[in-house]
Amino acid sequence: MRSTNRSISGFSKLSKRGKIKWIVENFFKDRESVIRELMSYWHSNEDQQKILDGFSENTITNFPMPYGVAPNFVINGETFCVPMVIEESSVVAAASNAAKFWMSRGGFKTKVLGTQKIGQLHFNWKGDHSRLQTAFPKIKRHLLSATQDLTDNMQQRGGGITEIELLDLTSELAHLFQLKCTFETCDSMGANFINTVLEKFGEELTSFVQSSTELFEDSDSVEIVMAILSNYTPDCLVRAEVSCPVAALEGVTKNVSAEDFANRFKRAVDIARIDPFRATTHNKGIFNGIDAVVLATGNDFRAIESCGHTFASRDGQYRSLSFCTIENDEFRFWLDIPLAIGTVGGLTTLHPMAKRSLELLGNPSAEQLMQIIASTGLAQNFGAIRSLVTTGIQKGHMKMHLLNILQQLEATEKEIKRAMVHFSTEIISFSTVREFLEQIRGDKEMSV
Ligand code: MEV
Repeated sequence: MRSTNRSISGFSKLSKRGKIKWIVENFFKDRESVIRELMSYWHSNEDQQKILDGFSENTITNFPMPYGVAPNFVINGETFCVPMVIEESSVVAAASNAAKFWMSRGGFKTKVLGTQKIGQLHFNWKGDHSRLQTAFPKIKRHLLSATQDLTDNMQQRGGGITEIELLDLTSELAHLFQLKCTFETCDSMGANFINTVLEKFGEELTSFVQSSTELFEDSDSVEIVMAILSNYTPDCLVRAEVSCPVAALEGVTKNVSAEDFANRFKRAVDIARIDPFRATTHNKGIFNGIDAVVLATGNDFRAIESCGHTFASRDGQYRSLSFCTIENDEFRFWLDIPLAIGTVGGLTTLHPMAKRSLELLGNPSAEQLMQIIASTGLAQNFGAIRSLVTTGIQKGHMKMHLLNILQQLEATEKEIKRAMVHFSTEIISFSTVREFLEQIRGDKEMSV
């Protein structure tokens, strides 16, 4: 039993070293080496570290993740090298393979289908519904003019508030109304802009009702519940697509004809259209690609994920986000996905590596980045399904994972080389690799 006190007040006020000291004293045994390890991940440049610390709270160190690239992404005729931040082996390799495969088959064709973002002001209305509805055009005009100073800049960039609707939700929750607001936020993700405007709408709606005695009765009252953007943005949508004659799929994998491959592939996608259990894994594969680019470019992967999953359930059942058809000997595979991302503001410009990622992509607009991200998601999905319907996923996956296991078992360069040869034909698991290492290490001892 440890006799230490594991709770603390005023933790956030401690210096970074003070925080680490408290943590290691209360939660670790090997204190000196834990301190050394935590501090070893501090950025060597103090100014850069300050920037990272500023993103969050109670920061004690950094958590490194692999930053890889998938080259050869041909999207609408332009070639990209896509940055990906992901901890899972095989993902970057699968994206790169799929990109290369489609490079010689016309590449990815993409199209932005919409860029509208949504914000909601929920409020309770105690009073006559029709008085609120009749006054709504005036309320709307007032809200737009009262937020003019907040929207000026965005309007100059071609964006702003594009619609305000009044929704009566009282049949579902007593007294509940909503202002459903639509925004165009150009190259920014727009969360701060939308939330600032919505909170101002809340204040202005309250004061407008109180002061417009000619429109409302004393018994009418408005009570703001909350003002926040919606992360569900079905009209901030992009399509990425690949297609080719079925015959051009020849050679996609050994011992499987082009036609057989196309049919097996389509079958797998169709299964994910009808079965939520499979659809969840299928879409997880898509998000392997999407999240990795979203992270690398400093965007909000939680927002992208939650939106994608809601979109996948838009007809009432959770389904695959991608589709496949084979018509007139043409194989077509595509993905529709809402992606509310930005290329200016937020982490995109503050995080030094996010900035580099955008530079690597040629400093794209938000619309261009939507297309790159969707193509990476589709490539990932193609790679996963291709393996699943042919060799199975484990062969490639475990080959990549072999290195992780070898590193965990502290294999030397020489041992890694021997293991790579040995396991090219053997089953890879933690125990088979450990046994192999024990055996070759034993052989070495014997021969000394
Ligand atoms: C693993 O991270 C992703 C896959 O499971 C996706 C899929 O099954 O389609 C391979």
